[in-house]
Amino acid sequence: MHNFGYSEEGQVGSFGDAHIWRRLLVYCRGHVLGMGGAVALSLVVTAATLGLPRLMQLGIDHYIVADSLDHAVRIAGLGQTALYYGLLVGVVFAATFAQVVLLEWIGQSIMQRLRQHLFAHVLTLDLSYFHSQPAGRLVTRLTNDIQNMYEMFTSVMVTLFNDGLKLAGIFWFLAMMNGRLALVMAVFIPLAVVVTVVFSRFAREKFRAIRSQMSKINSFLAESLAGVSVVQSFGGQGRSSQTHCGLTQEYLARSFGQIRVFGAFMPLTELMGSAAIALIIWYGGGEVIRRHLTIGELAAFISYMRLFFQPLRELSQKYSIVQSAMASAERIFQTLDARSAMQAPAPEKTAAAVALTGSIEFRGVHFAYQPDQPILTDINLTIASGETVALVGATGAGKSTLISLLVRFYDPVQGQILIDGRDVRDLPLAALRQRVGIIMQDIFIMPDTVRANMILDQPPDEARLADILSQTGLQPFIDRLSQGLDTRIGEGALNLSLGEKQLLSFVRALYRNPAILVLDEATASIDTESENLLEEAIAAGFRGRTSLVIAHRLSTIRRVDRIIVMDQGRIVEQGSHDELMGRESLYRALVRLDVRMDVREHDQFAGESLSRKEQADSD
Ligand SMILES: Nc1ncnc2c1ncn2[C@@H]1O[C@H](COP(=O)(O)OP(=O)(O)O)[C@@H](O)[C@H]1O
Ligand SMILES: [Mg+2]
Repeated sequence: MHNFGYSEEGQVGSFGDAHIWRRLLVYCRGHVLGMGGAVALSLVVTAATLGLPRLMQLGIDHYIVADSLDHAVRIAGLGQTALYYGLLVGVVFAATFAQVVLLEWIGQSIMQRLRQHLFAHVLTLDLSYFHSQPAGRLVTRLTNDIQNMYEMFTSVMVTLFNDGLKLAGIFWFLAMMNGRLALVMAVFIPLAVVVTVVFSRFAREKFRAIRSQMSKINSFLAESLAGVSVVQSFGGQGRSSQTHCGLTQEYLARSFGQIRVFGAFMPLTELMGSAAIALIIWYGGGEVIRRHLTIGELAAFISYMRLFFQPLRELSQKYSIVQSAMASAERIFQTLDARSAMQAPAPEKTAAAVALTGSIEFRGVHFAYQPDQPILTDINLTIASGETVALVGATGAGKSTLISLLVRFYDPVQGQILIDGRDVRDLPLAALRQRVGIIMQDIFIMPDTVRANMILDQPPDEARLADILSQTGLQPFIDRLSQGLDTRIGEGALNLSLGEKQLLSFVRALYRNPAILVLDEATASIDTESENLLEEAIAAGFRGRTSLVIAHRLSTIRRVDRIIVMDQGRIVEQGSHDELMGRESLYRALVRLDVRMDVREHDQFAGESLSRKEQADSD
């Protein structure tokens, strides 16, 4: 069921997948009345459509060729028949219109519900799911895939029902007029089935080839456009264009493969239609001469055969719609089936939820993103309430991972993490994340005002916000903005610098009044001016809170109570700055490198051994 790493390439759903239909039916609940109406309308449309050739037959037999009748009577009768014909056409039009509107409306409502359900579901999934699914793929799920299903619903399911009804009706009329000729015409049914099945086989194969090429093109485009700055700055335009050209050429070739299949199918159905008419003229004509059939019936036969082949001709167009829709449905349901690996705590455990004071304990914690690649090994760490602790170590040592575990972006593979002596898995997730304020390196900015970005989902409280801004000394940062807190930021509006974003996210974290404050390299991209601001802000923010800092520059953490040194997923040293500097420690080596790096900050060509370290620290 969980098929996180599945490849979309060439995945093609099948129309006969009963489980997909069953699940779709669930979304149709609440539209039973509307669907009943659509079915009733379908009966009307079919009956009226099939009545048309019948009227024509009556017109021909009763008036056109009725030599025995008076001239005037025949003309008048013909006029009346034409009137009925016109009325019937009007009924077909009105009923079809009502049916289309009704079904489009039902279709849209169902898709809206499915879309909403899917989005709400995706938001509950844990981070590991998002790491396994590129964001673009999830966007496709919510847009294209839903659209595909919608198209199938309106343009295919409806006509399928109509067509089925129509075919049955046609044979009923044919049998009524002349049983033998109807029987002769019935040979076209198995023929049509065989042609359709053979066509489906070929089309499916071609269709899969096209899809897989399309998905290659899509991922290539996504990558190139996301990294367009890299492509441009390294002069990769030519190469990218070339790759793109190759990919699209292959797509073109595969499309032609499909066109050939469709191109053969279309004339083939035409051919069958013409053969059927030839058969009617030959055999039916004979029946007319033998007086088993009237001229009008012969004409009606020909009309009915046209109606018979019409759905078949449209089949090739509907085919690709159905195929994409079934694949889309399959993927949508797969996404809906994905479950967060993270278990919500049992209600009896959370019942006693208390305000956290902020002591932290890691007890024998092991963790791995992938089963065979341990990232954290046997982490044991106790941080007292109110203590300020710094976490240092080279890039990739596992510092950020440790913090992700604390706020339960992931759960440890082994061991326990306790806050105030309680396993984090027993705390309601929302409460946990409310009480642990985390400031990360990459900060999400909503397209909204500065204020809204600071408050997020919390109840708005101007006084509180002003309080935080003044306590932390961040007011000048707000004053710099043209409209203060009401300045709009994010996509399409003012773009904040990375440093400014970090200041903002700091206020954002404090606004939630967390018992524990975590800074993951939060000062890394801050300019000197903002850094001074933030230093004060941080000092104010730390007061009365348990704080965990991962510092980009080691010089900024000298004042902390304790320094934890990590190396390759293990805690290797801990102590105060002076303690650790006083002996031969990894920390001392890191600090020395840090100092030397500061000196050579602008030297791009630092020595071999340094450049590795440099790369590591610029994380
Ligand atoms: N989402 C992820 N999936 C797989 N591996 C990851 C993921 N995030 C980090 N890693 C790996 O885990 C290791 C530790 O990363 P991280 O905790 O970010 O280190 P640090 O913050 O100390 O630089 C690195 O080797 C990194 O490649
Ligand atoms: Mg990190």
